[in-house]
Amino acid sequence: MKRMILGILLSIVVIISGFELWAQDSMDAMQPRQVVLTWQNDPSTTMTITWRTDSQMGSNILRYAESPDAKPRKWKYVQATTFTFDETSGWIHTAELTGLKPDRSYYVVINHPQSPDKFHFTTIPDTRGKRDLVILAGGDSRSRREVRREMNELAARQNPDFVIFDGDFIATALSEQQWDEWFDDWHEQMITADGRRIPVVPAIGNHEIDGGYNQTRDKAPFYFNRFIVPEPRNYYALNFGQDLVLVTLDTDHATSVSEQTGWLDQQLETNRNVRWKLVQYHVAAWPSVRDFDGEIPVKIRNEWIPVLEKHNVDLVIEAHDHAYKKTVPIRNNRQDDENGIVYLGDGGWGAPVRETKNADDYWWLAEAVTIDHFWKITLTKDARTLIVEPVFRPAGTGFTLSK
Ligand SMILES: [Fe+2]
Repeated sequence: MKRMILGILLSIVVIISGFELWAQDSMDAMQPRQVVLTWQNDPSTTMTITWRTDSQMGSNILRYAESPDAKPRKWKYVQATTFTFDETSGWIHTAELTGLKPDRSYYVVINHPQSPDKFHFTTIPDTRGKRDLVILAGGDSRSRREVRREMNELAARQNPDFVIFDGDFIATALSEQQWDEWFDDWHEQMITADGRRIPVVPAIGNHEIDGGYNQTRDKAPFYFNRFIVPEPRNYYALNFGQDLVLVTLDTDHATSVSEQTGWLDQQLETNRNVRWKLVQYHVAAWPSVRDFDGEIPVKIRNEWIPVLEKHNVDLVIEAHDHAYKKTVPIRNNRQDDENGIVYLGDGGWGAPVRETKNADDYWWLAEAVTIDHFWKITLTKDARTLIVEPVFRPAGTGFTLSK
């Protein structure tokens, strides 16, 4: 009899423990992870928040307020749109907050019974004279995760308003593991010490799309489903306040270069009175490593560069070559110190950096160095100046003294 009771008790304990484990697993699967902030509309009044859960039952509700201590009635609740796609085992939730006030911080809580995800973000000022705008521009994180993590840390320390990320996030377009690592790192690291999440303005690179070039949108499921930016998502324009427009283009990955030329012209024409015009695209027209006569650089120089020059674009961000690069000011295919456009590049946010051409031997290169880096671009609050500085990954020459 005693044995039987003991047996029953033991079974109950096992069942309860099993249930607890199951319940914890379910709880973990509902955990909001991999939060990414992007914009589909005006960065002064909107913010798009996208996250992943492992389970379909994961939380798709967030609330936000202007203070973390706001009274209950001051919080606004938003239900995200939830979806999945064939290549992922997770569920994606995305919500656009609209009607926000410019240059204001908003505190967000993504619901979860045990560990809600809490952070804040800050909208962009809509008029000049408020504060400097700090933008980081880089790309090519790809495969060296530890270096990428160092770069992320270095980036968050700059306290940027947002990051322009110019393609090649990962190495293998359809590898969920690589994307998971990238988004896990971004979630953990691209947040300031006081909890402000840093939005990203992404461009598609050849590593985001299976096949690299001239493919259809469904070959880049992670790029198109995880970065919720203006449609069609691989090329789009965003205005940051009254003084800055940023155009993102696709260098023959899911849309051909020539298909975007007319659209680019139109966007820049629409923004002709905007003081500062920036453009980003992945494959460098003015390469620091690769062949100047490569098919895509030639196409870009034939199709887009005349349009950029016609509209007096100020600065172009390129990538793909994995090296630090600054061109001379260029117009009409030659150096023009008065009226030329400077092109910055060429990606080095974790991808293996490559040996560059010798800048002295190539007329378009002002500087080319094999080093991990990104660019820091500061638009001063009077909007009269863009301060452009490279930020290099420390080369390991520092040391620590401790007692
Ligand atoms: Fe690339």
